[in-house]
Amino acid sequence: MFKHFFFSVLLCSVSFAHAKEFEIDLELGEEINEVCAGCHGEYGEGGKQGEYPRLAGLPADYIAQQLKLFKDEKRRNMPMRPYANERELPEEDIPSIAAFLSQIELTTQMPEFDEDTSAYDKLLIAKKVFNIPKVEGNIALGKKTYKTECKSCHGKKGMGKKNSDMPQLTGQYTEYMIKQIRLIAKGEREHDNDADFFAELKAEEVQSIMAYLSVMDD
Ligand code: HEC
Ligand code: HEC
Repeated sequence: MFKHFFFSVLLCSVSFAHAKEFEIDLELGEEINEVCAGCHGEYGEGGKQGEYPRLAGLPADYIAQQLKLFKDEKRRNMPMRPYANERELPEEDIPSIAAFLSQIELTTQMPEFDEDTSAYDKLLIAKKVFNIPKVEGNIALGKKTYKTECKSCHGKKGMGKKNSDMPQLTGQYTEYMIKQIRLIAKGEREHDNDADFFAELKAEEVQSIMAYLSVMDD
């Protein structure tokens, strides 16, 4: 546990150092996103039921840190690999794409339109509506586990922490998170909590946490 904590503190300081070193250019970020959009969607909304995770609104430091991990092959994933290498994504571009994705806001509900809203605007707004379908599972158990084991870092409403490496879980695809929890349990992905804790979580408990998270964004 202590070792993991130390490791993530180190990672944190690395990503903060980058944010300072390289300028953030949102237009450049938007340009880079045209490549990422092929899988993660135009607005970073992800796709294919979470085969491609949502990136919109994740903390910029978290996105930057994950890109660095893919780049260094400390986090391994075949589809991501060609997009994180030095030629495709030089290190100085990371803060710009991270900041661009982080500032995209998706909503969970279609707003009420007034008469002046054009059909085109409605279409654009509809593209940013994103809601995780309700997940089957024991919400009461999920709430209890979440509050004791996850809340301290991922936040009361599962929204993570801005300006940190703690991602939100609310609004992320269920299937994607279950896959990540399996990788963490197998020791294939680093997580602040040690892998043993996740390895001991029963499938039913994971399912219950997912059920709880899926109703939090309603
Ligand atoms: C060919 C498809 C593909 C493209 C293009 C792609 N990605 Fe990904 N990306 C993935 C997949 C698949 C994952 C999930 C990896 C896993 O399951 O661990 C992922 C994961 C990520 C994550 C981790 C998110 C999280 O919450 O854990 C980040 C950040 C990311 N991608 C950023 C980018 C950026 C920035 C670009 C463009 C420069 C990009 N990706 C281009 C397929 C792609
Ligand atoms: C001590 C702080 C801490 C606690 C407690 C914690 N997490 Fe995390 N979690 C993190 C951090 C930091 C990350 C980013 C990991 C990384 O560096 O790749 C993360 C990442 C994740 C991810 C991957 C998200 C993504 O977009 O890829 C999932 C899923 C997750 N945590 C679930 C949980 C669950 C479920 C619990 C409770 C059982 C929990 N976490 C408890 C700090 C924590």
